[in-house]
Amino acid sequence: MENVIYAKDYQPPHFLIEKTDLTFILQDNVTQVHSKLRMLPNNDSQQSLVLNGQNLKLLEVKLNGQALSEAEYQLTDELLTIANPPSEAFTLECSTEIEPEKNLALEGLYRSRGMYCTQCEAEGFRRITYFLDRPDVLSEYQTTIIAPEGKFPVMLSNGNCLSDTVEAGLRKVTWHDPFKKPSYLFALVAGDLTPVEDQFTTLSGRQIKLQIFVEEKDLDKCEHAMNSLKAAMRWDEEVYGREYDLDIFMIVAVDDFNMGAMENKGLNIFNTSCVLANPKTTTDAGFQRVEAVVAHEYFHNWSGNRVTCRDWFQLSLKEGFTVYRDSEFSADQNSRVVKRIEDATLMRQSQFVEDSGPISHPIRPESFVEISNFYTLTVYEKGAEVVRMLANLLGKETFRTATDLYFDRFDGQAVTCEDFVQCMEEAGKIDLTQFRYWYSQAGTPEVHIDTHYDENAQQFQLTFEQKIPDTAGQKDKQPMVIPIDMALIDNKGLIDIDGKPAKTITLTDKTTTITFDGITTKPTPSFLRNFSAPIKYHVEYTDADLALIIQKETDGFSQFDAMQQLSIRAIQQSLKGETLDASALIESLTALINNSTIDPAMMAKMLVLPAESYLIELSTQPDPLDVYQQRKALQIQIAKSLENLLLETYEKHADAKGLSGNAMAARALKNQALYLCLLANPEAYRQLAHKQFNQACNMTDESAALMAMTHLDSDHTQTQQALQDFYQRYQDESLVVNSWLQIQSTAPRAETLKHIQQLQSHPAYDPNNPNKIRALIGGFCSNTQAFHQTTGLGYQFLAEEIFRIDQINPQIASRLVAPLTRYKKLAANPAEKMQKQIEWLSMQTLSKDLTEVITKSLT
Ligand code: BES
Ligand code: ZN
Repeated sequence: MENVIYAKDYQPPHFLIEKTDLTFILQDNVTQVHSKLRMLPNNDSQQSLVLNGQNLKLLEVKLNGQALSEAEYQLTDELLTIANPPSEAFTLECSTEIEPEKNLALEGLYRSRGMYCTQCEAEGFRRITYFLDRPDVLSEYQTTIIAPEGKFPVMLSNGNCLSDTVEAGLRKVTWHDPFKKPSYLFALVAGDLTPVEDQFTTLSGRQIKLQIFVEEKDLDKCEHAMNSLKAAMRWDEEVYGREYDLDIFMIVAVDDFNMGAMENKGLNIFNTSCVLANPKTTTDAGFQRVEAVVAHEYFHNWSGNRVTCRDWFQLSLKEGFTVYRDSEFSADQNSRVVKRIEDATLMRQSQFVEDSGPISHPIRPESFVEISNFYTLTVYEKGAEVVRMLANLLGKETFRTATDLYFDRFDGQAVTCEDFVQCMEEAGKIDLTQFRYWYSQAGTPEVHIDTHYDENAQQFQLTFEQKIPDTAGQKDKQPMVIPIDMALIDNKGLIDIDGKPAKTITLTDKTTTITFDGITTKPTPSFLRNFSAPIKYHVEYTDADLALIIQKETDGFSQFDAMQQLSIRAIQQSLKGETLDASALIESLTALINNSTIDPAMMAKMLVLPAESYLIELSTQPDPLDVYQQRKALQIQIAKSLENLLLETYEKHADAKGLSGNAMAARALKNQALYLCLLANPEAYRQLAHKQFNQACNMTDESAALMAMTHLDSDHTQTQQALQDFYQRYQDESLVVNSWLQIQSTAPRAETLKHIQQLQSHPAYDPNNPNKIRALIGGFCSNTQAFHQTTGLGYQFLAEEIFRIDQINPQIASRLVAPLTRYKKLAANPAEKMQKQIEWLSMQTLSKDLTEVITKSLT
């Protein structure tokens, strides 16, 4: 492929930019940007100055105050080159024009519902002005925004506001950020927004002003984000010793945003979906998402902004670490075990799938064409799991010593994953040479475990064999460091191992044998407690072993995992054509549901079967429709067998109110019960679902009922009526309309495709808005019945839609194409039809983003 960038080719920048002075003149249709850069050569060798720039109209360049003639610089689509810059410090001034109104890619400066906003990570700043747009060039920014008086009540940029004046009908606002930062952290906002304000006093007694800027209609949806922000600020002080550094911290909500949110210094910009929350319009899951994203972006102030990345290959340095931090924060705020189950589930059903497919890459990639394609589950979630393994290896206190060392040593610098690992090594006084393979080797390690009990010797022996699978471009890998937390169980409970109930076995060799002495009866081993490593493991269990783990384990993740394994085995049996035997599973579920001490949130998780994507991942060349059918058959069998208990459970938890952890847990369980009841017998529970839909006093219950009806009882007139009523009620709440679209696009029937095509011309749909695209088209991709329908029409629809979206927003197109690229994993019929669509796409003129992903999937 052309234009591949390799990590090994890293060179320090030839020039530094000490100060960056920016002036924005906001006019209708065109924005002028004037930059004044104080630059310095960064080495002795005379190099030409090469600046990045994209979609810019250059009006003028000045060097040390002198305008350059066209002969004195060279301009291409992506670069501005000045051949002989001074060998001493100099100033470079550029005047450019950009057109935010036409910017539908949502990178650089663009408009969302009339307001101006920016998104610069990773390489969006070059769409604003000519610059050294790379994370290792740190500069002090001063930004002036000029606009007609009265037009934009709010005009913001990073740091502190220095002045705000009006002259000759123009308002002029100047901001200064005292902290040096890379260009990807720059932000600007101008619009008709209103702040919700609060304060935070740091541990050292500094007063921080907190502001969340939203449209006036959304003022009643900011309280939760504000509380989450204050909780996150306190948590980072207590757990990591990190205080906030500026006097003001601002969050702005925008409706058109490619991602969830962005950590710009002192001025975070959020997708409305990740900041606005109100029980009337937001589900419990939505509340938890807001809490996690607010915390995540706030935590970046240290892990990302104060200490940033040297180059984009180091992305996991800030993202993996920050996801680990936000995940621990959420675990502390809510249920730790439920959060762990959610993280492990995301790894299995999404990251494992990515890691065995065509774009498989290590958490620190070695090459890329388009960096936007590497904001992946691997860099984020697997990256967080790798940091978690380090934290566990060091232990709580030593890990804190190591992170203190990291933050102190590298404050104000742009560094590498290697720098981070070295701090772990130094503080932990351990050798992490082999551990580093987690950064360089892709693929999900697989561990096969053999067990042997010798009754005469009273010994229990385990043999572990690890295998790192070949992945795209990587073969013959080295054994890795794999910490496996385990326990031995008999019918009395956990058996002491060396005086403790559990033990971590750290695999380092291809095979490892461990012997336990003095074991008087054959035990059942439990592995990967608390999901101690991001791996797959295989061990021969009987149904009775798994049932015992569910009964006796004290680790909630292992109980959950044993339940998942019972389900996986049942589904795999029926996929092989054997009769479905779910008796062990149903027995265990019955026992759990009758156990009044189990946390309802945990019980809700226990009732969810493994996702189709994970079942496909564990199968060889499956037909997704078969997987769907067999999973569904098992779900129906469970629902029918547990029907009475489920109804009791529903009634027991029916009137949970408020936003406490207990209330959210109760709703999660009750709505899972409702779903299964409706699945078991739509006739019998139709009125119950309908009643909940009409009488709900929160969005969790209302949308859960609507979803159950739409997915399980779609033809009934009451369901159709409910969908209409819901839209009538919420048509002015854009985020609720997204759920309405998604509930419909995920309805499991082939006909949903036609319905989606109709919804595309519904006034509720906006073909340029990423949230709307994700709800309708993203929802469709996860809808096995519709997407994988045997006609192949689902694949064709997606391919055509991706082609359309790529013309306006390459990042979104490139993310949406993933499900079409994994055809090699599937049975012949779906695989051929999918491949045909990928080949069709590959013959069109496409963005760099999409080309990279499609090329990889075809090779
Ligand atoms: N820095 C990213 C946002 C980003 C990513 C901007 C890629 C541009 C390109 C931000 O910190 C982030 O990771 N956001 C996540 C949410 C988070 C909770 C994992 C997101 O936007 O999905
Ligand atoms: Zn992040």
